Amino acid sequence: MDYSQLKNKRVLITGGLGFIGSSIAHKCVELGAQVTLLDGCLEPYGWNPYNIHEIRDQVRFIKGDVRDRSVLESTVPDHDIIFHMAAQVGREISMEDPILDVEANCHGMIHLLEVCRNLSPCPKILYAGSRGQIGEPITLPVDESHPENPTDIYGINKMAAERYLMLYGKVYDMPVVSLRLNNVYGPRCQMHAGFYGILNWFMSNAMTEIPITVYGEGSQTRDYVYIDDVVEAFLRAAISPVANQEVFFVGSGVETIFLDMVKEIVRAVGKGEITYIPFPESREKIDIKRFVVSTAKIQNTLGWTAKTNLREGIEATARYYKDCLKHYLEPKTSPSDG
Ligand SMILES: NC(=O)c1ccc[n+]([C@@H]2O[C@H](COP(=O)([O-])OP(=O)(O)OC[C@H]3O[C@@H](n4cnc5c(N)ncnc54)[C@H](O)[C@@H]3O)[C@@H](O)[C@H]2O)c1
Repeated sequence: MDYSQLKNKRVLITGGLGFIGSSIAHKCVELGAQVTLLDGCLEPYGWNPYNIHEIRDQVRFIKGDVRDRSVLESTVPDHDIIFHMAAQVGREISMEDPILDVEANCHGMIHLLEVCRNLSPCPKILYAGSRGQIGEPITLPVDESHPENPTDIYGINKMAAERYLMLYGKVYDMPVVSLRLNNVYGPRCQMHAGFYGILNWFMSNAMTEIPITVYGEGSQTRDYVYIDDVVEAFLRAAISPVANQEVFFVGSGVETIFLDMVKEIVRAVGKGEITYIPFPESREKIDIKRFVVSTAKIQNTLGWTAKTNLREGIEATARYYKDCLKHYLEPKTSPSDG
């Protein structure tokens, strides 16, 4: 794919110190874009200065919260492309603190859209939607026409934010795209907690010899997609006008049994003890039994398909953390602005 048009493009990444944001940043820097990262450095999320240590001198960093309109008013203008990754990302957190979730995921999006609609030209906005918008599928594989019945507050607000995005796109003729991500894993994901990024969390357990706790029999299924493939999907969407005002699923298209994923981790790390416990009630009520997406739309429209199979992706992830796990387990200090 020819990404030469990204050279010198002014790119803003919200949530830019996190897993997906920082991975997009690395690729944009490599392609010669001028990259600004905006991140609130909020706990317990995946921001980590180590995620950008190789490119720290080539990016501008601004510490700021997307819930604050004035932060976006001062940061967003003069950018050509915005990757909006900042979010409250915990499903259980969203149930415990729904207002936080509304503020980060809905208000944050509306502030961004309100700032952008007054800009000429309007920057292209790429949003990270979620499989959580769908809830328990009625039919498999799930495609973009599948009804949305989220089972938690996070899913509802990710869905609402996507609808605001599409509404502004249509009413104000703005270039917007939503990529609904499946279970993303790989280098630069947080390794300190299991409330999201479960594959990485289990790998952290295996590496530090903490038992890997599987709820129930681990028979639920998921669609795991490797970070490099996700970055590629965002970049294709960013340079393709045909993606504007469209929603796409981004997944491997492979339905994987949860326990098989865990066994692949133990295999790649070379150690790891699996223990089984009953589903906690709070989790069972919001858990999804089976999930896999169809990638036909993104394949036909953008020519994107996931290239990395689960075994290769897990092995690459294990290689990454072998040398740097400590940077993901130690307390963090946010970088200074600039
Ligand atoms: N990782 C996945 O499997 C997955 C799946 C579906 C959707 N997504 C979406 O992808 C996006 C990125 O997720 P991630 O996995 O990189 O998570 P992450 O926790 O690694 O990154 C999120 C970043 O956003 C920042 N942030 C949170 N709230 C903020 C706020 N109010 N203002 C400014 N910054 C804030 C955090 O400090 C963090 O650095 C999110 O929108 C998430 O909902 C992720």
